[in-house]
Amino acid sequence: MTDTATLDARRQAAQLDFIARGAPLVVGDLAATPFDREALAALGPDDAVLRIDTGLSAEVLCLQAGGQRWALKRAWPEARVRNADGRTAFLNEIQRRADHLALKRREPARWHGLADTAWASFGDGLLLSPWIDGGPVAGWDERQLGQLLRLACDLWLEGLFEWDLSEANILDDGRQVRLFDFGYQYRFDPLTQFSSAGHGDDQPLFHPAERFETRCFSAHLLALERTAGRDAALAAFRREKAVALQAYRRLRREAAARGAQAHVLAWLDGFIGRWATALQGDAADLYLAEAWRSHVLDLDDDLRGQSCTPLTLERADWLLAALAGHFGALRAGQAFFGHDAGLDREALRRRYAALRRQAEAFQLSTRKEHGA
Ligand SMILES: Nc1ncnc2c1ncn2[C@@H]1O[C@H](COP(=O)(O)OP(=O)(O)O)[C@@H](O)[C@H]1O
Ligand SMILES: [Mg+2]
Repeated sequence: MTDTATLDARRQAAQLDFIARGAPLVVGDLAATPFDREALAALGPDDAVLRIDTGLSAEVLCLQAGGQRWALKRAWPEARVRNADGRTAFLNEIQRRADHLALKRREPARWHGLADTAWASFGDGLLLSPWIDGGPVAGWDERQLGQLLRLACDLWLEGLFEWDLSEANILDDGRQVRLFDFGYQYRFDPLTQFSSAGHGDDQPLFHPAERFETRCFSAHLLALERTAGRDAALAAFRREKAVALQAYRRLRREAAARGAQAHVLAWLDGFIGRWATALQGDAADLYLAEAWRSHVLDLDDDLRGQSCTPLTLERADWLLAALAGHFGALRAGQAFFGHDAGLDREALRRRYAALRRQAEAFQLSTRKEHGA
């Protein structure tokens, strides 16, 4: 692997090598649980209170033992996603659980939002966690937004970039928003890099609040636009941005205190300045630009995975309607990026009409609708 390889390519090579060597990786202590290894390996579906078998790399069994409930994640013999990220997701999750255990040992209160790991063994394809008694976040109030964004920023500060903040990977127990699926959480260097994308310092588009907005909150806003109208969606967006602004001011301070380089601090300053300015006004142009970015990124993701749903079509329809109704504001707000930068309105309309047709052709099941 050359020095010019992307961080993804290097990580995948190292993980695929780890898998090929059959190297053992065990996290936690099974003796502190009511289970033994043979019994866990031999569990059938009937032994579970609940079985979730829609996952791409594993199934999840809810078990009742020792007076509490447990989540047992069991790797499929062969991951259902055949790309490298899919094949390495289960190993990646156990590697991250090891990182999280170290963080939790240091500062338990700070990391309460991360699921605990009772025991995990890569060789056995098993990962055991206490069951989180909670449900999906419905309304995204300030507590929920603050906890989620702060946790994503705290992970970023530790050099852990969580890519998949989808609705299905976030539970709220009424007091604390919790994360438990770390198959797509990758390492990077927060002192010199923005994320684990590209070479780390050449893709400024991705950041913790962007991941939350793209994978989760943009769908919430889309539903609000549909059911309660644009003003209600804009009010929810302003609330989220105010919370994100607070989280990023803290993130910026902490990054500076830890010695992050000037280009990283300038990158954070860019978000902080933009959001603060927008929130002094009605933030409508920022809404358009951020929603454009999130819908474009998620549409692209669904098309690449050929895993489109009605939500994908709704995102494409939003993009086409935004071009028809707000092209000037989008351009003025520098919303267009990547392939889109420099295209005129008609070229963009043709492009997104074509992508919408592709999304229609790739309609699969409803599984991806709530993330993976
Ligand atoms: N510790 C847990 N507590 C409660 N529910 C869980 C827990 N772990 C997983 N689940 C449930 O199982 C589903 C799939 O688990 P997840 O870790 O997201 O697997 P996948 O990698 O297949 O997406 C989650 O969306 C959630 O509903
Ligand atoms: Mg998941």
